[in-house]
Amino acid sequence: MDDLAVLNAEPTSAASRSGTTVLSIIIPTLNERENIEPLLSLLTAALPDTEWEVIFVDDDSRDGTAEHVRDLARRNPRVRCLQRIGRRGLSTACMEGVLACASPYIAVMDADLQHDERLLPQMLGALTSGSVDLVVGSRYVAGGGVGDWSSGRVRMSGAATRLARIICKADVADPLSGFFMCRREIFEVALRRMSGQGFKVLLDLLASSPEPPRIRELPYSFRERQRGASKLDTMVAWEYGMLLADKLVGRFVPVRFALFGLIGGLGLVVHLATLWVALNLLAIGFGAAQAIATIVAMTSNFVLNNQFTYRDQRLRGLKLLRGLAIFYLICGIGAIANVGVASYAFTSSHTWWLAGVAGAVVGSVWNFAMSSVFTWRPR
Ligand code: GDD
Ligand code: MN
Repeated sequence: MDDLAVLNAEPTSAASRSGTTVLSIIIPTLNERENIEPLLSLLTAALPDTEWEVIFVDDDSRDGTAEHVRDLARRNPRVRCLQRIGRRGLSTACMEGVLACASPYIAVMDADLQHDERLLPQMLGALTSGSVDLVVGSRYVAGGGVGDWSSGRVRMSGAATRLARIICKADVADPLSGFFMCRREIFEVALRRMSGQGFKVLLDLLASSPEPPRIRELPYSFRERQRGASKLDTMVAWEYGMLLADKLVGRFVPVRFALFGLIGGLGLVVHLATLWVALNLLAIGFGAAQAIATIVAMTSNFVLNNQFTYRDQRLRGLKLLRGLAIFYLICGIGAIANVGVASYAFTSSHTWWLAGVAGAVVGSVWNFAMSSVFTWRPR
């Protein structure tokens, strides 16, 4: 590794760079401080004949990744830092990295050295030859591999890959790869339709492309992570499910609304169960029991929505309490609207179930719309 070349690039080397940047490498980071310098050395060694830059899109890591990147950027003009505050998400990080650069070719890779940077020149070669639009670093074509994953993770990844092929418009062996390079236009025509949910930016890109891009897959072996920790937890699987659902039915029903409704339905079950316990086991009077059941159901709805529906904007600590108070208020008004609309519908139609459904629909749409704005504010 040529660390010196990285660290001692004089400011004048900005002027000595022969031309405009051809390749921007977008690297999402979350607590990857230790990996930045080794990665930079590897990139420098891998791309001696290319005008490249690297943009680290950091979600306000606690370990000082962004400061470290800026420090390197002061000495090496190929390095840039895009720091986001109060935001999370690998996919949106990559999307914003793309929007922050102007190069005709864009690569996306991880910071943790698991992706083989030696593939980059070959990927770029394939793109500049004009025969393809997108090159995927693939673990699942001949010559590629996943290193020594546990059999559990191999099976999980295989299942997730098969699911992905359903929503993917292109025939790719490894649509979940986090390592790829493409012509800039491929992103540009898809960006506005991308869901940005979760980890799977390539899949999102492919599923959101108006025309299937011409793809080549190049094999590589997924390396072992040496420093820092993986961010893949069970909730990444959940977010993956949300991405699939969004791509499958998002056109007809917003996935968040469907989830919100589902949790609302569950809330009804919670309400009735609490009411039953309060009346029969605790022998509380009906009015008080109904009030308790309402609060329990609203609280459980809040917790579940915070955990699942709005996972990407999850509230914690004091904000959680504040959010809960707002949620009570919104649902209270929603309940009044529900009863009002239902009563009106009943006096005009006299069909009890139609009136009931009308009230419930108005109430839930209100609750959903208001809490998306006031409880879980989009960041
Ligand atoms: N900005 C930002 N925000 N970066 C993130 C976030 C986030 O919320 N979460 C993770 N990252 C960064 C990590 O710092 C790392 O550089 C990269 O995204 C991948 O995270 P890992 O935690 O190392 O994921 P992995 O190794 O389990 O999975 C990766 O490889 C798979 C196979 O290629 C990901 O790229 C997967 O999408 C991919 O399927
Ligand atoms: Mn990794």
